[in-house]
Amino acid sequence: MNTQKYYTSNPYPDIKFESRKDVLKGPFAWRMRTILRTLNVKPNDFKGKRVLDVGCGTGEKPIYYALHGANVDAIDQSEKSIKIAKEKAGKLKVSVNFICSDLFMFKYSHAYDYVFSLGVLHHTNNPYKGFKLISQAVKPGGILTIGLYHLFGRLPTTVMRTMLSLLPISFENKKRFVMRLYARRWKNEQVIFDRYLAPYESTHTVSEVKRWFESDGFKVIGIYPKYNLSELEWFGKKSFFIISGRKNNG
Ligand SMILES: C[S@@+](CC[C@H](N)C(=O)[O-])C[C@H]1O[C@@H](n2cnc3c(N)ncnc32)[C@H](O)[C@@H]1O
Repeated sequence: MNTQKYYTSNPYPDIKFESRKDVLKGPFAWRMRTILRTLNVKPNDFKGKRVLDVGCGTGEKPIYYALHGANVDAIDQSEKSIKIAKEKAGKLKVSVNFICSDLFMFKYSHAYDYVFSLGVLHHTNNPYKGFKLISQAVKPGGILTIGLYHLFGRLPTTVMRTMLSLLPISFENKKRFVMRLYARRWKNEQVIFDRYLAPYESTHTVSEVKRWFESDGFKVIGIYPKYNLSELEWFGKKSFFIISGRKNNG
């Protein structure tokens, strides 16, 4: 199974939103604020700004930016995720321009104040090439935020994923198996499947991704989570990290 097929049968994260309150308050809003701290912006700073979300999945994050007044474009290669995203936005009566496209084929304009790509590039076969393409969309002075799996933090998961890949059972049975192991730990089953059964993922280090930003004309402005002396501190604990950078003016 390839990544596109996987996310077509397993749209991610598909968080249930009953009303705008579920987006603007509670655990989802709290997670969004953690992301936004890496950019040093407040939700209301999105008012009137242009935002692009690359690999938006089922659309929760673009809906959040749009509900704070941003003009949002959001792309994903999974048709089913885009369909769910449009339904979610329709239900909450919020306008987002959802586009079904492979990020490697998309025509990037240079017009966005904020570009996000969280949990996406590590599922592609050339994350750095993807980074370079996406970074073109950021206007001078604008901000790019990337989220990736961490080499050391993700190691126990990488070991488990390797063992699961070797199990001689069907994909459906693997799903049942991981649900049995992890249902208590993570409530959303798509989170469990994504973690252990997504067909391909790469892992990265902060120093590597900092180099991507710097060699592409960005200044790194925020990293989550924090570490004191070395990112080795994340070993087995922090499997996902977020980096934001500001594009140099001119
Ligand atoms: C783990 S989900 C992350 C979704 C969302 N960014 C979030 O933070 O909730 C990864 C998403 O990346 C999308 N994706 C993977 N490769 C892609 C590509 N080459 N072009 C566009 N989307 C891609 C998948 O379809 C999937 O929806």
